[in-house]
Amino acid sequence: MGCPLVHNALAALILVLLFKGSSVHSAEIGLLPDNITVLEGESVILRCRIDEEVTHKAWLNRSNILFTGTDKWSLDKRVTLLNSNNSDFSIHIEKVQVSDEGPYTCTFQANNKPRISHVYVIVQVPARIVNISKNVSVNEGENVNLYCLAVGRPEPTVTWKDQKYGMVSEGEFLDITEIKRQQAEDYECITHNGVAPPDRRKVKVTVNYPPMITDMKNMPAHLGKTAVLRCDAMAVPAASFEWHRDDHKLVDTYNTLRIKNEKTRSLLLFTNVTEKHFGNYTCFASNRLGSSNASILLFRPGALQGRGTSLHAGMSVSMSVWVSLSAALLLKVSI
Ligand SMILES: *[C@@H]1O[C@H](CO)[C@@H](O)[C@H](O)[C@H]1NC(C)=O
Ligand SMILES: *[C@@H]1O[C@H](CO)[C@@H](O)[C@H](O)[C@H]1NC(C)=O
Ligand SMILES: *[C@@H]1O[C@H](CO)[C@@H](O)[C@H](O)[C@H]1NC(C)=O
Ligand SMILES: *[C@@H]1O[C@H](CO)[C@@H](O)[C@H](O)[C@H]1NC(C)=O
Ligand SMILES: *[C@@H]1O[C@H](CO)[C@@H](O)[C@H](O)[C@H]1NC(C)=O
Ligand SMILES: *[C@@H]1O[C@H](CO)[C@@H](O)[C@H](O)[C@H]1NC(C)=O
Ligand SMILES: *[C@@H]1O[C@H](CO)[C@@H](O)[C@H](O)[C@H]1NC(C)=O
Ligand SMILES: *[C@@H]1O[C@H](CO)[C@@H](O)[C@H](O)[C@H]1NC(C)=O
Repeated sequence: MGCPLVHNALAALILVLLFKGSSVHSAEIGLLPDNITVLEGESVILRCRIDEEVTHKAWLNRSNILFTGTDKWSLDKRVTLLNSNNSDFSIHIEKVQVSDEGPYTCTFQANNKPRISHVYVIVQVPARIVNISKNVSVNEGENVNLYCLAVGRPEPTVTWKDQKYGMVSEGEFLDITEIKRQQAEDYECITHNGVAPPDRRKVKVTVNYPPMITDMKNMPAHLGKTAVLRCDAMAVPAASFEWHRDDHKLVDTYNTLRIKNEKTRSLLLFTNVTEKHFGNYTCFASNRLGSSNASILLFRPGALQGRGTSLHAGMSVSMSVWVSLSAALLLKVSI
């Protein structure tokens, strides 16, 4: 690092105090100080190249004397004299802190003239997220307000990015009004100030909604064979399922009838279909936000001309299987 020589009134004043009796020359405002950039926590060497005929020399932090010659004035253990001879006068600062930022001055007297050299220490701190919203769980339609507070020097930028759609929002706060279930995802906060790689953290937003049965099909079954009725439901939190036939709840008999519940669906398994199994089954899916039900038929092939299913979604939805009464009767009659 260079050591531009600058004469100014303040330096002259300091020198008057330091070196009583020395003659002081006219002030001269000139070169900008050199900047030294250092990361917080690292160490820095401040070097001053001097003339050989130097009689006095000193390093100052703002107006505080750190060293005069080899005499240490500073009480700070982090500050040490690195080298002091006729051509070089350098100090070392360890574990640099933000408070160390500022102007440092090397002054010396050569040929009976005071000389001064400035260096400006800039302390940088990598951008870091210090406080961020916790993962949140809300009901569909509610508002969500996320925050992400970051520190760093220079002042970092903060952006929010959603992982699903790649949308970016500038600033520490992200507000989502009347959130929809499709907006449930990880939102990532990214802070950056060019000092180190960006700091990133994710916040998971869970959107709760009542079950919605999405897929149910009437199923044909053959006597003596296996058969499966499926009930698929979207829900957050995951739905719990129940199967009913007429007015009674079905239970897993570990024998001819098995119920297999998965995260988003329930399976009703018939291990050996007999005539009594044909009929109308209702699936109930529920969570703490609501419930939904839908009915389907397990039918003998050829016995039913089903007209398909129709689904109605809502807080408490039933899916009706529009099968003509005659078809249903036919089914019973054919047993
Ligand atoms: C030192 O940094 C300041 C602000 O950070 C800037 O204005 C100035 O130009 C820099 N000086 C040099 C010599 O780079
Ligand atoms: C002063 O010290 C520096 C660094 O140790 C060295 O390179 C230089 O030769 C020395 N100069 C004199 C005149 O001793
Ligand atoms: C420089 O001065 C500032 C302000 O007085 C102080 O907080 C800091 O610790 C000093 N740093 C060194 C290396 O002397
Ligand atoms: C984090 O920021 C939030 C919002 O500004 C504030 O309410 C909370 O007290 C902060 N938490 C901590 C640990 O600083
Ligand atoms: C928050 O969600 C994220 C992303 O899904 C996950 O990695 C993290 O463990 C969760 N944090 C807590 C405290 O549950
Ligand atoms: C299915 O049940 C019928 C009548 O109870 C029985 O005769 C038959 O062996 C069973 N088939 C199987 C594969 O268990
Ligand atoms: C099946 O049962 C449900 C509920 O009991 C009923 O609403 C529906 O009409 C029935 N479907 C047929 C085809 O009987
Ligand atoms: C099934 O859903 C229908 C339509 O939403 C509803 O009217 C009915 O009460 C539900 N059945 C039960 C037993 O919850």
